[in-house]
Amino acid sequence: IHNVIFDSSKEASLLVAQEIANLIQRKEELNEFCILGLATGSSPIKVYEELVRMHKEEALSFANVVTFNLDEYYPMHKNNIQSYYYFMHEHLFNHVDIKPENINIPDGSVSAEDLQQYCIDYEMKIKSYGGLDFQLLGIGRTGHIGFNEPGSHVNSGTRSITLDHLTRVDAASAFLGIDNVPRKAITMGIGTVRSAKRIVLLGWGVNKAGIIKNTIEGEVSPQVPATYLQEHSNTTFVLDSEASSELT
Ligand code: F6R
Repeated sequence: IHNVIFDSSKEASLLVAQEIANLIQRKEELNEFCILGLATGSSPIKVYEELVRMHKEEALSFANVVTFNLDEYYPMHKNNIQSYYYFMHEHLFNHVDIKPENINIPDGSVSAEDLQQYCIDYEMKIKSYGGLDFQLLGIGRTGHIGFNEPGSHVNSGTRSITLDHLTRVDAASAFLGIDNVPRKAITMGIGTVRSAKRIVLLGWGVNKAGIIKNTIEGEVSPQVPATYLQEHSNTTFVLDSEASSELT
């Protein structure tokens, strides 16, 4: 893992957006799709804001972009404002020229009996494009990436998972109370994420300082799933000064 530390998350986000834009344009010149793995939550918001600005002011096109989102709550309907489907359209997809058929977000409304096959198909669809060119990640205080909570297997694929209590506590305000936070989610696996050719993890704020330290300096362990990124050769953690404040 390489770490880069910035004074502000804003400054850092501009750089990450620039890397993504460069990749999209490089793939465009080759006449290839650019396959992006995307995250929701507070961490990537400024990256998406900058990509939207580049689309509007610098004619960055998403015509050759295919996206796969990391996760979605389960059960969850698309039109629910807490859904990651809603989040992605609000922050990115509604404002750029991506083709709707190139957007993939785990569907939180599939029936319980179809769920397992749905997850296998999601994984196969990523593989059918040759895997992810770039995966954007945040990190949860449990050490989750996507919703791969402690105990996740290094080779796990897309599947349903039970959310940790701490993850539900952290989501409670968005849902106006912990009782409204779904207990489950669909998530890409650790194996799915680790097969990406390039991974950038964003960490902002003092709340993330402890888990960032454990992830970078701790032993690789299923108890802190993000530590599996230590074994990936092209991962960068992009941090602000607060999130990096406990690093030795
Ligand atoms: C969201 C996701 C999660 C978040 C993590 C941090 O798609 O995969 O792993 O990245 O929970 O959330 P924020 O950025 O809100 O602190």
